[in-house]
Amino acid sequence: MDDWCNHAGCLLSGGWIDGKRDCVVCPCHEYAFRLDDGKNITIPRLCGDQEAFSLKVEEGAVFVNAPLVTK
Ligand code: FES
Repeated sequence: MDDWCNHAGCLLSGGWIDGKRDCVVCPCHEYAFRLDDGKNITIPRLCGDQEAFSLKVEEGAVFVNAPLVTK
């Protein structure tokens, strides 16, 4: 999942995992995005879904199908 929250740009890696809802919670305004597909499950729904990427695990290595970003 993209680390930059689409609400206001905080980093989801600074948030936490909510195991009951299978989501990551943004540390800034506590919007919640489903781990499987990035769907915003917050009510009210004031921003869009989070971009999510497919991945696979092979022989202990994780491969993420994410676009290369250069800034
Ligand atoms: S920046 Fe993530 S919920 Fe606002």
